[in-house]
Amino acid sequence: MAAMDANSGYDRMKELKEFDESKMGVKGLSDSGITSIPRFFVHPPETLADFKKSSSTCTNIPIIDLSSIVNSKDTDHRLKIVEQVKEAAKTWGFFQAINHGVPISVLDETIHAIKAFHDQPHEVKAKFYKRENEIGGVMYTSNNDLYRAKSAAWHDSLQAWMGPEPLKVADLPEICRNEVVAWDKSATEVAETVMELLCEGLGLEAGKFKELTFLDARVLVGHCYPYCPQPDLTVGITSHTDPGVITVLLQNHVPGLQVKHGDEWVNVKPVPGGLIINAGDFLQIISNGEYKSVQHRVLANSSKEARISIVIFFNLSKWKEDGYYGPLPELLSPEKPAIYRNFTTQEYMENFYGKGIDNKSLIEKIKIQN
Ligand code: OGA
Ligand code: NI
Repeated sequence: MAAMDANSGYDRMKELKEFDESKMGVKGLSDSGITSIPRFFVHPPETLADFKKSSSTCTNIPIIDLSSIVNSKDTDHRLKIVEQVKEAAKTWGFFQAINHGVPISVLDETIHAIKAFHDQPHEVKAKFYKRENEIGGVMYTSNNDLYRAKSAAWHDSLQAWMGPEPLKVADLPEICRNEVVAWDKSATEVAETVMELLCEGLGLEAGKFKELTFLDARVLVGHCYPYCPQPDLTVGITSHTDPGVITVLLQNHVPGLQVKHGDEWVNVKPVPGGLIINAGDFLQIISNGEYKSVQHRVLANSSKEARISIVIFFNLSKWKEDGYYGPLPELLSPEKPAIYRNFTTQEYMENFYGKGIDNKSLIEKIKIQN
């Protein structure tokens, strides 16, 4: 890419740097009252045209009621829920869990605390602002792929590694410290329940994923999508798939998330008290394609109120001894041969960190062609 646009004298790198060094984030830009967005946020016409296409039929992702799973041991009913979760993970890659056992007050407090962090003056947030995306610790940033992505997106994020090494709680911003710790605990309980159901749906022991350490390496990201004065020119988050096992997402009432279903982009309507769960690339691969890691994206927020979402990405913490992972051998048979080859830790990590989030996923790279 040319450093300088010869025709207009536009120096993209200089503008990116100035924005990054200001540490003000898009929330800062939005609060400053700008009426037009900096050029490096503007996406190419193809992307923008695609962002305008959302489903006209107002389908929503499946909603699954977990109440009887959390509270009882009724096995017939459990089988029904296993079927629902399996079907959702196979066809949508996404579902919305309700009655998951976490009190609404805990959900609300988490959203308020993350909002309160982002609402602080940017001078206060600046001491958490970082650019290097390291494993472990806490960072606040705008666009963690700012210098790698082709165009920037209209969101800021506070990120904290909650495991496998216990986070130093004092490293969390005080304004959301207790809430982040409490949310991590609650969300991990929900993730454990969901992983059990996903295991059963594959015919595995309920505790298999936990045993494989899929609950341990957790990254919590509190996103803020502030009001965007030109929402038709940019995006909230570029279309992508999540790399890990599963993601648990809590959002406030401001819409914007869309999920790809067939050729359509479906709006995810926030359901009060609901938690969105989706499968990541790692789960698609180890389930030998049974569960799907589906593309999703967020529209730039046209509402004056900020959209807040808190995601926790669940990843494995221990690789197998030989350093490889691939479709779980228990799921393979002569009728169901592996459709993906094994991949190494390094391949996985490089794909995770070495790209803008819009790049091709690992899944495509390791598909066995026949
Ligand atoms: C993500 C993501 C969606 C949202 O962080 O990977 O897809 O609604 N977020 O914030
Ligand atoms: Ni995502």
